Amino acid sequence: HCALSAHRTAGTRSFLSRAWELSEQPLKKLVRRPLRLRLEAGAHEPMEPVSTPYQHSLLKDRSQYDAEWRRSVEDPAGFWGDMASNYHWEQQFETNHQSENFDVRKGKIFQKWFRGGKTNLTYNCLDRHIERGLGDSPALLWEGNEPGTDKVLTYKQVHAAVCQLANWLKANGITKGDAVAIYLPMLPELPIAMLACARIGAVHSVIFGGFSSDALASRVKNCEAKVVITATGGMRGKKAIPLKRIVDKGLAKVSGLVSKVLVYKNPDVPECDWTDGRDVWWQDELASQSTDCAVEWVESEHPLFTLYTSGSTGQPKGVLHTTGGYMLMAGTTTRYVFDLQPGDVYWCTADCGWITGHTYLTYGPLLNGAASVVFEGQPTYPDAGRVWAIVQKYKVKQLYTAPTLIRALINAGDQWVTKYDRSSLAILGTVGEPINPIAWQWYHEVVGEGRCPIVDTYWQTETGAHIITPLPGVWPQPPGCASLPFFGVQPVMLNEKGEELQGAGEGFLAVKASWPSTLRTLFGDHARYETTYFQPFKGYYFTGDGTRRDKEGRYWITGRVDDVINVSGHRIGTAEVEAALTEHPGCSEAAVVGIEHAVKGQGLYAYITLKEGHEYTDALKKELVNIVRSQIGAFAAPDVIHWAPGLPKTRSGKIMRRVLRKIAAKEESELGDTSTLADPAVVDALIANRP
Ligand code: WTA
Repeated sequence: HCALSAHRTAGTRSFLSRAWELSEQPLKKLVRRPLRLRLEAGAHEPMEPVSTPYQHSLLKDRSQYDAEWRRSVEDPAGFWGDMASNYHWEQQFETNHQSENFDVRKGKIFQKWFRGGKTNLTYNCLDRHIERGLGDSPALLWEGNEPGTDKVLTYKQVHAAVCQLANWLKANGITKGDAVAIYLPMLPELPIAMLACARIGAVHSVIFGGFSSDALASRVKNCEAKVVITATGGMRGKKAIPLKRIVDKGLAKVSGLVSKVLVYKNPDVPECDWTDGRDVWWQDELASQSTDCAVEWVESEHPLFTLYTSGSTGQPKGVLHTTGGYMLMAGTTTRYVFDLQPGDVYWCTADCGWITGHTYLTYGPLLNGAASVVFEGQPTYPDAGRVWAIVQKYKVKQLYTAPTLIRALINAGDQWVTKYDRSSLAILGTVGEPINPIAWQWYHEVVGEGRCPIVDTYWQTETGAHIITPLPGVWPQPPGCASLPFFGVQPVMLNEKGEELQGAGEGFLAVKASWPSTLRTLFGDHARYETTYFQPFKGYYFTGDGTRRDKEGRYWITGRVDDVINVSGHRIGTAEVEAALTEHPGCSEAAVVGIEHAVKGQGLYAYITLKEGHEYTDALKKELVNIVRSQIGAFAAPDVIHWAPGLPKTRSGKIMRRVLRKIAAKEESELGDTSTLADPAVVDALIANRP
């Protein structure tokens, strides 16, 4: 059953889903979604690896990669020691590889890298380049929401702005280790705020601008932020987002915690309410601050940031990354995976509110002395050609985006792409979810004119940086395949008993040993960190994803095997959405599953049971969707609401999500064994009730 089936169709059940359906394995809870590659009809044939003429500047060929990868795992101290010498250490580290425990059976999990070393990430991103004469080269290229609005900031200018904000933070009581929440639109001030925190050893927590006031409040509270940095608002296409108003609403729920709100006056959204004594204007306060600010040298393991992400249960998790190891992996992966060099114009379309915007818009590119494009607007505003207009305008060399955007742009038509000059493009990247081969081919042929390698980078908020990824031009790349581990990373494929599988097959994706940028804990909840990532398979970090491995040893990520759903590359836990829905006074029970979605990759499908005395109406549907918008954010709003007179449950009262997924996917012929259901008639009622 382990044989690799490249001919798999979307409906085929994999051995992992069968394992869940047929047995009572302890892993049962983790294996909920059948593993599958999302393929359009007609795309089921395996595709040949694609070669491109691109020559990597550091790696000659696959055999050089093999040799260096082997060295990186056999001699991590030597390998990472070499990589670390590319950066400035105020105090040299003593040991440069993990020396703590990776196995829950042996005690608490602790991972430490570059012990005894002291450095500063912002110094390495800015001052180091200025000292070597790159001060006048562009660091941030800001492209505003409206075409024609833009700003170029050199390394020196970013440095000055970062220092002013860092000085303001210090003047307002923020010291090493204090938390600062950042809730900003995609203005240059957003990466600047992150860099300012890192400069003084403050711990930033960026909250994505699409999150609601409730979601903001719970994050601000959890990370214990003393200061919130925000803007009056931001523009998304024609729509103004009143960020400050959302902050006001959120902070009303966590009163007493935040002493200062620093508000950037965005000329596009000039108005906002004001709380005297708490709120101050960025433009007024920072102008008088010095453009020099001494660096706070911090230990390698000093916390750099927390970033909240969704898991399969309850509250979002505050993933904590530290300084030294994160810097090393952010810089090294960006250097190798995008072959990024000083002066390159590089564009990552992610928002800084997500991990991709941390590692691959802010820190990675700046560590490498490149110019990073910061785009405020929407990729389809004012028209579907915007992305390619930006590529032409800035002569972008590396473009890094998500499959969902590629699919949306395919639908708009090739003419939007070919209208613009894309000859500057050399490397294309994707991230966030498996890319379907059709989208891959379009990206390769239409966008890249067959010339650019595609790096299908696999990683997570938790991994801090790419862990499985192609290296451009180093080997021929089959569409839809994340391929091989990055240096220092040892992926394994496990069966449901936690045994390592060899050769080709299919299984759970885990990692065997620590790597520099792995998360160190979940903020305030180390126990949850251990249960989530290290309990499922003893001795391994578990990713939560399934994978196939082909006979060449390449990894193909098949998607999450838990209740985490990737909607347009945004990671959403179904439990969070359910918790929001059941806040509605009429809702007695909610169950949310993922469904395939042509553009978003996955959409959210919610089954709702109402309390007695409430009626199933369109108005109620709207209320339910709105409650999710207000508790989490618009991006988490369910696509489908299915009125459920009852939910399929086992005799012990557990909802059988597998059944709900099949009904949502209109695959009820594949329901499998429903004999353990307390009331099998519920299934027919649900099918009859389909929206
Ligand atoms: C998925 C985003 C397939 C995966 C960087 C992972 C991918 C989750 C890929 C993490 C890829 C990310 N191919 N799946 N190239 N990249 N994923 O934390 O399911 O927002 O577990 O980090 O995205 O999402 P997160």
